[in-house]
Amino acid sequence: MSEPAQSASSSLELSQRIEARWATIMFALIVMLLAIVVFTGVHWAAMPPSRVEVVDVKTLHLAGEFIESNLGTGIDPQGNVTVHMLAEQYAFHPHCIVVPEGVPVTFRATSGDVVHGFQIIGTNVNSMLVPGYVSTFIMTLNGVGERTMPCHEFCGVGHAAMWATVKVVPLATFEEMARKSRRLSCV
Ligand code: CUA
Repeated sequence: MSEPAQSASSSLELSQRIEARWATIMFALIVMLLAIVVFTGVHWAAMPPSRVEVVDVKTLHLAGEFIESNLGTGIDPQGNVTVHMLAEQYAFHPHCIVVPEGVPVTFRATSGDVVHGFQIIGTNVNSMLVPGYVSTFIMTLNGVGERTMPCHEFCGVGHAAMWATVKVVPLATFEEMARKSRRLSCV
């Protein structure tokens, strides 16, 4: 065999070896991804999320806790301060939430259209508002004053302009307001 023929056959061997190695890596990757899919599916089915509350988006405005007259802050029959809030493109209802200082406040919020974000700057309140689901968390706000509450999930062209305000007032002021109205907002 002449020399050029020999080098041609050895380079063919080399390229076949490289190709086989990459094929093995790709195959291993596919197997790994499939294993992740199977594991996640089994894990999700075996351990579903502990607390999921659903709500019908189509009847939100007509009945239930998210009707317009029930939005805002109130004191529920158990004596807890509860905020009901609805997010829609591109506003939060109410646009300004009033809460008492130093008291645990239960927030219950949902979306009437697409996914929105609910975050109160300077606190660890940070949640997604997903249509069809109720997001709930309890938070004690300290320090009288106003806090900004921007939407932090991209929800459309008006996303950047979608924000609300949380006004923290002294407990006595809040109680005074609550005596006059069943549902409170800043105005
Ligand atoms: Cu609502 Cu972004």
